[in-house]
Amino acid sequence: MQTEAFIRNDLPEPDAPSAAHSERVAGHIRDVIELAGGSISFAEFMQHALYAPGLGYYSAGARKLGSDGDFITAPEISPLFGHVLARQCAFVLDQLGGGAVFEPGAGSGALAVSMLTKLDELGALPDRYLILEVSADLRERQEARINLECPQHRDRVSWIAGLPEDFEGVVVANEVADAFPVERFRIQGGEVLQARVVTDGPRFAWQYARAPDLLRDAVRELETDTGRALGDGYESEVSPGLRNWVTDLCASVRKGLVLLIDYGVTRREYYAPERGQGWLRCHFRHRAHDDPLILPGIQDLTAWVDFSMVATAASNAGMSIAGFVTQAQLLIDGGLEKELAEFNSMPVARQVKLSGQVKLLTLPSEMGENFKCLGLQRGALLPPPALIASDRAHLL
Ligand SMILES: C[S@@+](CC[C@H](N)C(=O)[O-])C[C@H]1O[C@@H](n2cnc3c(N)ncnc32)[C@H](O)[C@@H]1O
Repeated sequence: MQTEAFIRNDLPEPDAPSAAHSERVAGHIRDVIELAGGSISFAEFMQHALYAPGLGYYSAGARKLGSDGDFITAPEISPLFGHVLARQCAFVLDQLGGGAVFEPGAGSGALAVSMLTKLDELGALPDRYLILEVSADLRERQEARINLECPQHRDRVSWIAGLPEDFEGVVVANEVADAFPVERFRIQGGEVLQARVVTDGPRFAWQYARAPDLLRDAVRELETDTGRALGDGYESEVSPGLRNWVTDLCASVRKGLVLLIDYGVTRREYYAPERGQGWLRCHFRHRAHDDPLILPGIQDLTAWVDFSMVATAASNAGMSIAGFVTQAQLLIDGGLEKELAEFNSMPVARQVKLSGQVKLLTLPSEMGENFKCLGLQRGALLPPPALIASDRAHLL
């Protein structure tokens, strides 16, 4: 996600319909809190704020992605991103002698369009292009975009209601892992406390309570993994929902490659002493800030990904690590240069536009370093070039 500022005071006022929608979402969450006896875990709060049917950020109709939304993702910045990913898919599909592409969380459909277009150009169209989308609104937008921008491939695309079974092919999940509700915790007096959400007049507020066993065990496990006890006052997140999803996703793959692309770090970096505020981020109208309890239902809530946790869940589910690279390396080693082969003969205006896109996707100060790609594979396959040259899986 590409956003501009980290200043909460800088947030624009929501327009009247958005404010009214947020009030409806807040009302829904207040009811849930009351029914639960006065408080809910932050993970439950995040689940409702993002996914409450017809209300949540991803379930209701607000425009989220793109220049008139709240954030912009790599496939929205440039089709170059999907073109390079298509090259990796083609490399794997060729080894498998065919297969499908599966895209969970396809957003606006931009990635599907750019990958299908490039796969066609490479003569490597998949048998099927499957999309799993939890948001009914986004699913409609995906279909409309595919109908408009690559109608010739529409018959290949189908939307599925759950993870596929016995999948063979390539899974591409861009910025999906960060969208899973997270549990937030604080260490106090050596104890693990769970962050909970209560109502406070018209607003929401934090409350801390003794952590349930699952959360406490997850925190103790990460302390063991990093070889370091977290100090008093330390706050962060764990994502049991993401761990379960990765386990289920891996179980659904019979043979092939999974590419998970997101902003994230290794476990040691995630729980480093200086990161005692955690990795939650909120996105509203191209501003990033760190108060998830405001603007319910009209701002995106995300958490950076602990890629070591994902790698461990995948290994436990029998998949091996094909590679772990930054987004910049993924693109550079994956064929970005080939995509720009005609650059010198392009009109200047096009060159300027493409240069801007490449900078956003690859510069360390933009998306190049914070975003990583973790490749997971099952079966005897050569990992695609993008995952090999600069692999840093040993850091996980
Ligand atoms: C930040 S958007 C990224 C969209 C798109 N992949 C892109 O890069 O532009 C997150 C997407 O994941 C979807 N999503 C969230 N949880 C999901 C789940 N459990 N399974 C499938 N999609 C999910 C959201 O509805 C949304 O489409």
